[in-house]
Amino acid sequence: MIPKLTRRAWIRALLFSGIAITGGVGYVSSKKLERVHADIPLVDLPKELDGLKVGVLSDFHAGAFTTKEEIDRAVRMVREESPDLIALLGDYVDGAYSHSPKNVEKGSYVFDALGSLKGPLGTYAVLGNHDHWTDADLVREKLSMLPVVILDNQGLALDNGLAVVGVDDYWEGPSDALRALRTIKPESVVVMLSHNPDVNIQLRGDRLVRLVISGHTHGGQIRVPFINWAPWVPCSMKYRGCSGLIKETDRRWTFITKGIGTFFVPIRLACPPDVAILRLRRA
Ligand SMILES: [Fe+2]
Repeated sequence: MIPKLTRRAWIRALLFSGIAITGGVGYVSSKKLERVHADIPLVDLPKELDGLKVGVLSDFHAGAFTTKEEIDRAVRMVREESPDLIALLGDYVDGAYSHSPKNVEKGSYVFDALGSLKGPLGTYAVLGNHDHWTDADLVREKLSMLPVVILDNQGLALDNGLAVVGVDDYWEGPSDALRALRTIKPESVVVMLSHNPDVNIQLRGDRLVRLVISGHTHGGQIRVPFINWAPWVPCSMKYRGCSGLIKETDRRWTFITKGIGTFFVPIRLACPPDVAILRLRRA
């Protein structure tokens, strides 16, 4: 004979079923990597830079829930697009549960995967807060074994008039955007790589930087569907649950990728992981 459930037992059963279903949907969603394309309209962009393609990968969080196969797939997706230049935006390894250098070794498969990235104008990397929480020097050492230029508050002017500038992490670095900008010629078209989009706070009044490319927010990772609200905000309110293209000034844009991995739980809701392919266009 089936026992009759009390009202309280029904509520409890419904609640646990809801949590289990939401968790299951979120887990499946966290594995559905997307390829996001965006055109960035820039005023006064020289003709030679029109159509320049940037491949963007961020927030791998290797060693926690992201597998080597998932990172290999993300790398393959970017390679298929043949970008001119590749931006790596940090959180290569995960330091959520333990701030230990051991986590860099545990997640070192991310560096094996990144070794196959190639772009004619190079691959540029900045560090994220999780890299600092584990061991920033060890992460730099692993990156330095790859054909990758690490940009810690410094820039590099390319022959075509573009300058790639990178800052260390805004929380843990320190990041110093103005010092980084002093290392390049002011007539360059500047693309800034910063793990955290809050670097824009340091850029108040600046007219040099035309595009900031960031990760860090994971797009909120867990968003309430339909209202697009994210309860988790690891940066200023301006970027709450944000991803994609955001206009900062009449001359500057920020692009935020949702990244590849997850933080704290292997769940994403209404916020699938992504790699991004950006194209600079003359406005
Ligand atoms: Fe992250």
